[in-house]
Amino acid sequence: MSPVRESITKGAVSSILEVPASIARPEYVGRKRASTWGGGDVHDAETIEKIRISARIAAQALAEVGRHVVPGVTTDELDRIGHEFVLDHDAYPSTLGYPGAAGRPAFPKSLCTSVNEVICHGIPDSTVVEEGDIVKVDITAFKNGVHGDNCGSFIAGEGSPEAVKLVEVTHEAMMRGIKAAQPGREVNVIGRVIEKFAARHGFESVRSYTGHGVGPAFHTGLVIPHYDAAPYHDDVIEVGMVFTVEPMLCMGSEENHEWKDGWTVVTDDGSWVAQFEHTIVITETGPEVLTLP
Ligand code: MF3
Ligand code: CO
Ligand code: CO
Repeated sequence: MSPVRESITKGAVSSILEVPASIARPEYVGRKRASTWGGGDVHDAETIEKIRISARIAAQALAEVGRHVVPGVTTDELDRIGHEFVLDHDAYPSTLGYPGAAGRPAFPKSLCTSVNEVICHGIPDSTVVEEGDIVKVDITAFKNGVHGDNCGSFIAGEGSPEAVKLVEVTHEAMMRGIKAAQPGREVNVIGRVIEKFAARHGFESVRSYTGHGVGPAFHTGLVIPHYDAAPYHDDVIEVGMVFTVEPMLCMGSEENHEWKDGWTVVTDDGSWVAQFEHTIVITETGPEVLTLP
């Protein structure tokens, strides 16, 4: 089930990287919690153009970090690469200082690195990536007052056949979920498609972490499940909506728990996980992916 290396353990987290004062921060940085977004999920053309810019920076940053996922790199080094890329494009790395749950610390890094059985929200640290690891990199850029959010799974060196299959199926699951996001349908159609496709390949789709509305807020409050949530999550997909589709598929059980660091989420059974994420906008003719380089 966990084909190559031993369990992931927490490494040493380096000190917080600086951001020049010239780069605008999201409202939540330095606060206890993010404000509640009351502006809905349908955006005007001008806002969508701004999201397009942030989304492209996030996608380019993801590609750049992904090129450095090789055996021997530390997740902290991946963070530094992503951090610098985003700053070089006059954007802010949205996860840096993102408030945690009540009483928990803010996220201390500029992207999430989630290795093998870590489902999501892994904190970059001194962990050394090994041959065959699945490294999920999730990076979000904030510019002109809006966020673009994406994630990819990268295998370091050569992966096991199971790992390669998991990564391929997860990407295909995301793309099928995106294609299902047609105006007039309920958002729960997206998860239905993803969960069915995953099950066909013997994988489970994580239920406790979801896609979300994104744009003027990092997480707007709109929830996009990656499982069949009907009759719940019946929000109707409308033209002009912007949200993420970001399935996490597991080789084993999707049951999970969080580490004491308040962020890192791992599978209970240690089974490995892949994730992909795009930010999409709904147009008259269907979904359009914004997180493209
Ligand atoms: N980018 C993640 C998502 O897809 C959220 C990360 S929040 C963090 O929604 F604080 F963990 F970084
Ligand atoms: Co997201
Ligand atoms: Co993300």
